[in-house]
Amino acid sequence: MKNHVWRPLWVALGIVALILLLRQFMAPADFGIHGRNFTYGFHRLSNIDEWRTMPVKYQGKAGCLECHEEQAVAATASRHRDIQCENCHGPALAHPDNPALLPIDRGRDLCLRCHALLPYPTSLRGALKGIEPATHYPEALCSECHNPHKPDQEAP
Ligand code: HEC
Ligand code: HEC
Ligand code: HEC
Ligand code: HEC
Repeated sequence: MKNHVWRPLWVALGIVALILLLRQFMAPADFGIHGRNFTYGFHRLSNIDEWRTMPVKYQGKAGCLECHEEQAVAATASRHRDIQCENCHGPALAHPDNPALLPIDRGRDLCLRCHALLPYPTSLRGALKGIEPATHYPEALCSECHNPHKPDQEAP
């Protein structure tokens, strides 16, 4: 074969060899095939313990019911029934022990995450009612007019 075929081939082989060499030094010692629970079983074994020690932050709607029955009953019957309380109020696992530490976010951005109008009529997002943030009463907070726990009713 001619030189112009061999030369790029050697370069390619050299790159592969370099990658294999670097892998020896740079991949963590416990990276390898550990059971078939991931694609091809490749993962870092210590990663499992890292996720196990990750502190839990959310407790779910059921945990709010005993102390906030009014809001829980209202929200569960409303169009917002599928939204977790902590979606709007933030992680609240530690809150029952320390109620002072859960400031309410009344900002417009809280609601606009889901309700800013998106111009895609064919997407599933189209089923969620959207408003134009710049023209929909931009000077006021959403919760001044809408009850967040009963969104089909006016704020009390
Ligand atoms: C063991 C009782 C208890 C549980 C469980 C509990 N809370 Fe509370 N919560 C309180 C108390 C006490 C207050 C402060 C007095 C008040 O506003 O009712 C409070 C206040 C709040 C406030 C208002 C904070 C403010 O600045 O006015 C929010 C929002 C809230 N809780 C959300 C939640 C959510 C969401 C959950 C479930 C993830 C939850 N709470 C679970 C006892 C509880
Ligand atoms: C869509 C967002 C959203 C969801 C979901 C939501 N909240 Fe709220 N919540 C708010 C906002 C905004 C306020 C402040 C209302 C205001 O300023 O009048 C509030 C106020 C509160 C308060 C203070 C007292 C009051 O009624 O104003 C409590 C307690 C509370 N929420 C608990 C809950 C619980 C429990 C759930 C779940 C069952 C829940 N919230 C679900 C947005 C939400
Ligand atoms: C996590 C996404 C999410 C957030 C955050 C959220 N909403 Fe909603 N909202 C929804 C969904 C889902 C519906 C129900 C749509 C349906 O039933 O078709 C809804 C319905 C509504 C409706 C329409 C009720 C009707 O009559 O059809 C209003 C008004 C509303 N939300 C206001 C708010 C306000 C105000 C906030 C902020 C306090 C807020 N939403 C935050 C998802 C959200
Ligand atoms: C000054 C009062 C006021 C404020 C502030 C306000 N709204 Fe509204 N909103 C209304 C009224 C009135 C309607 C029903 C008539 C209309 O569509 O304008 C409505 C309708 C809606 C609807 C239903 C739209 C539809 O197509 O049926 C959504 C969703 C909504 N608002 C979300 C929000 C969000 C999110 C905020 C904050 C970013 C907000 N609103 C702030 C008064 C208000």
